[in-house]
Amino acid sequence: MGIIVKALREIMSSDIYPIVADKIDNFSCKNSDVETFLRTKAVEYENRNKSRTYLLIDDKNVDIMAYYTLSLKAIDFRDTVSKTTIQTIDGFSKKVESVAAILIGQLGKDTYFGNSIEGAKIIEFALNSIYNVQDIIGGRVCFLETEDTPENQKVIDFYADNGFKVLQHDKTDKYLQMFRKL
Ligand SMILES: CC(C)(COP(=O)(O)OP(=O)(O)OC[C@H]1O[C@@H](n2cnc3c(N)ncnc32)[C@H](O)[C@@H]1OP(=O)(O)O)[C@@H](O)C(=O)NCCC(=O)NCCS
Repeated sequence: MGIIVKALREIMSSDIYPIVADKIDNFSCKNSDVETFLRTKAVEYENRNKSRTYLLIDDKNVDIMAYYTLSLKAIDFRDTVSKTTIQTIDGFSKKVESVAAILIGQLGKDTYFGNSIEGAKIIEFALNSIYNVQDIIGGRVCFLETEDTPENQKVIDFYADNGFKVLQHDKTDKYLQMFRKL
C-alpha cells in the first residue's frame, strides 16, 4: 500500500469526489475538532479560499488515512515571549508585535485507517507542502495551536518530538501555540 498526498481542492473537481466525500463523512479521529473540521468545514473553507486541506490517502482503496490543513495567520506576541524569540521569528526585529506565518490548522489521522501511518510522517508531508509555500512567498516559521490540558499532553509531546517549540498561550489562554523554524 502506498500513501499519496492529494489536495482536497483538486479532488473536489475530479471524478473520484463522490467516493472521497463519502469517506470524509466517515473520518474518525481522537480529536473531535479535527474530525469535525474535515467532515463539515474543510470543503467550505476551500470554496472561500480560507485554508487548504491535504488528504493522505492509500492509493489502492482511496481510504483517508490522515489529513492536514494549512492557512495563514498572524502570530500576536504576548509579553511572555522573549525578545530573542521574537527576533528569531521575525528575522530582523525584536520589537514587532506580530508576524504572519503558516498555520497548521488541523492535523490528524483516522482511528481505523491511520494505523499504518506514523504521526511523524504526517508532519513530514505537511512540511513538504509548507516548504513549497515558502519557496513562493517566503516565511520563516510555521506554527500550530493545541489544547493545553493534561489530557492533551501526549499531543504536545508529539509536536515537541517533531521539532516544535512552545511559543506562548494564545489570547484565550486555551491553546498553546508552538512553532517550528523553516
Ligand atoms: C497526533 C497524532 C498525529 C500522533 O500520531 P502518532 O505519532 O502516530 O502517535 P499515536 O497516534 O500513537 O499517539 C501517541 C499517544 O498520544 C495519544 N493521543 C493522540 N491524540 C490524542 C488526543 N487528541 N487526545 C488524547 N490523547 C491523544 C494516543 O492515544 C497515544 O497514547 P499512547 O502512547 O498511550 O497509546 C495522532 O495521534 C492523531 O491523529 N491524534 C488525533 C488528532 C490530534 O489530536 N491532532 C492534534 C490536534 S492539534
